[in-house]
Amino acid sequence: MQVPFLDLKTPHNELADEILPLWEEILRHAAFVGGPHVAAFEEEFAAACGTSHCVAVNSGTDALRFAFLALGLRPGDEVITVANTFIATTEAITQAGGRPVFVDIDPRTYNMDPAKIEAALTPRTKGIVPVHLYGQTAEMDPILEIAGRKGLWVVEDAAQAQLAEYKGRRAGSMGVMAATSFYPGKNLGACGEAGAVMTNDAALAATVRKLRDHGQARKYYHEMEGYNGRCDALQAAALRIKLRRLPEWNAARRAAAARYLERLSGIPDVVAPKVADGCLPVWHLFVIQVDNRDTVAEALRDRGVGTGLHYPVPLHLQEAYRHLGGVEGALPVTEACARRLLSLPIFPGLTDAQIDYVCESLAAAIEK
Ligand SMILES: Cc1ncc(COP(=O)(O)O)c(C=O)c1O
Repeated sequence: MQVPFLDLKTPHNELADEILPLWEEILRHAAFVGGPHVAAFEEEFAAACGTSHCVAVNSGTDALRFAFLALGLRPGDEVITVANTFIATTEAITQAGGRPVFVDIDPRTYNMDPAKIEAALTPRTKGIVPVHLYGQTAEMDPILEIAGRKGLWVVEDAAQAQLAEYKGRRAGSMGVMAATSFYPGKNLGACGEAGAVMTNDAALAATVRKLRDHGQARKYYHEMEGYNGRCDALQAAALRIKLRRLPEWNAARRAAAARYLERLSGIPDVVAPKVADGCLPVWHLFVIQVDNRDTVAEALRDRGVGTGLHYPVPLHLQEAYRHLGGVEGALPVTEACARRLLSLPIFPGLTDAQIDYVCESLAAAIEK
């Protein structure tokens, strides 16, 4: 049996008849950037997240960068985040002028450990960026409590957690701002690049709208320098079609995760991901921990099972961040996870038989 790590072709083939007529209309009207589909998608996605505003941009990285710039990040400002994330989180902090400060994670949820935040605060700390990794929100109550008490802002990196919930609130609606990515492999992915900023603050949303369009609210009247960070109409039209399917796709991921959790409970030496109290994850990734991870991954590959590593090298140990002075041992939980994490296949069309085969293959690989 073959079990790919991810299947992007099936959903796109299924949706082609709905997406292609919209793309033809855009082509015939030659209205490629911005326009009615972008505005409609922004309204629909804001409603789905439970925020007053959504500003569509051209990537998740730009969404994060524009959020930090709108909040007025300045050179020398420090932003607390995690090292077990995709580098875009910290690229955006640095490119907006700030300096990432890493804190350790919880070993079972893989998200920011709120108990580690206070020790990382300095007079230069301006904000906290929890990353809702693998589809589960970070523990937002203590994070928001510390931020409120210390006068810091919170920007959620919700790239991997579209429509995930924390105590009844949706990912993207809890910080002063949030960013998400519609990179094709995300739970809600574009047919190319796109991202969005969410906020309940009208002034911040207006600033992001200017930042994405060269600092102008009115053509050729530039209130500041901005960026070319607009969302194109083809992506927005496809995202509108796909957003309608997102609840059903997320439910399929939850069913797959439930089956994995049940099957894996019988395999000693596999540490399964933990759902924290009050969290309703959307399982962007299903990440376990095993000893001899690379050997296990190879054995799975030999049996036709695709796997992934998210992420093999924590950011504080990346060459790109050598200047920040991160050393081995600084974030023991993050580092131990990086050696042991293995992402198993999870996507809406994954069948029960495929999940059972992955689990049998995993048990066999571990026994060997
Ligand atoms: C946690 C996280 N943050 C930010 C990003 C950046 O998004 P994009 O690739 O759309 O720029 C991604 C995905 O790529 C991500 O997984």
